[in-house]
Amino acid sequence: MGIIFKDVLSRVDFSFIVFFTIMLHAPCSNAQNQKIITIKFSHVVAADTPKGQAAERFRQLAQQFTGGKVRVEVYPNSTLYKDKEEMEALQLGAVQLLAPALSKLGQLGVKEFEAFDLPYLFDDQAAVNRITQGEIGKELLRKLEPRGFVGLAYWDNGFKVFSANRPITNPLQLKGMRVRIQASRVIDAQMRALGALPQPMAFSETYRALRSGLVDGCENPPSNFYTQRMHEVQPFVVDTNHGYLGYAVITNQRFWEALPKDIRAALSLAMVQATEFGNKIAQSQNDDALRKIENSGVSKVTRLTEAQRAVWKIAMAPTYQQAEKRLGEVFLQRVVSTARSN
Ligand code: LMR
Repeated sequence: MGIIFKDVLSRVDFSFIVFFTIMLHAPCSNAQNQKIITIKFSHVVAADTPKGQAAERFRQLAQQFTGGKVRVEVYPNSTLYKDKEEMEALQLGAVQLLAPALSKLGQLGVKEFEAFDLPYLFDDQAAVNRITQGEIGKELLRKLEPRGFVGLAYWDNGFKVFSANRPITNPLQLKGMRVRIQASRVIDAQMRALGALPQPMAFSETYRALRSGLVDGCENPPSNFYTQRMHEVQPFVVDTNHGYLGYAVITNQRFWEALPKDIRAALSLAMVQATEFGNKIAQSQNDDALRKIENSGVSKVTRLTEAQRAVWKIAMAPTYQQAEKRLGEVFLQRVVSTARSN
């Protein structure tokens, strides 16, 4: 699952395999005599999430495949940078790898990524893959290049639940509620369609805002929700599965292109394998997290029937008219027909 593009697959060629074999058998001192390249990989979620684990797998593989010439330092949980700061840091070259949510890439000037936020666009993971692994996914990553970024992979998290400090089994109950959202205009429109008051906020500030009552609710896949202990301050959770949350792994183009060709090939292969690993565990991590939230006894999880979920779908449908204005009618129709073309 997931997809790796141009600079990735095209470089996993025969010469790389020869290089890799040589590296494996080279005496250690060769690697030690060369300057070690350090890659800082910053992200905002816990280490024990699909993204956190994929980042850790990449760290290990990058070291292994470059024979120690590359050292990846992973900074989870906004320990290095918060949402907005990390984008600026990547632009400035203070960090070399990020995996922001697709919802946040509108901030880099590619608003089309917000199509991933459309409510009930995807029936399942296969529908997501039709976009990420198809032409649209490639096109979107290419749009990052004129802005100085290279998109290396799509990483999955999962489908979002809603949570609140009051019961919300019915979408009408969201009226007037202040809901923390990511900085995406499509998510903003979705909250307004429900009569809620969207409050864009960094992920790192969400727990505190929920605890203090600054906001009443939020939406996230269970893996993020549980690992930030949000269930302890949100007594009601509903498995609406109304939207998908995934990531683009991005790097600074200048940094990437300045890497020696063989190192870039080794890192590309590490990225392919880390992507496969992370995307394989994403669904089970979320299933597991939702069970843990349920078993915690502090947050009541409501599992909706298909008929109940249909009510949410109808309530959020006006988002599509708003999104058409933002993303363009032709693009929106392409996305919808591709996602639903099984
Ligand atoms: C959020 O801000 O809710 C998410 O984008 C966090 C993440 O990176 O999964």
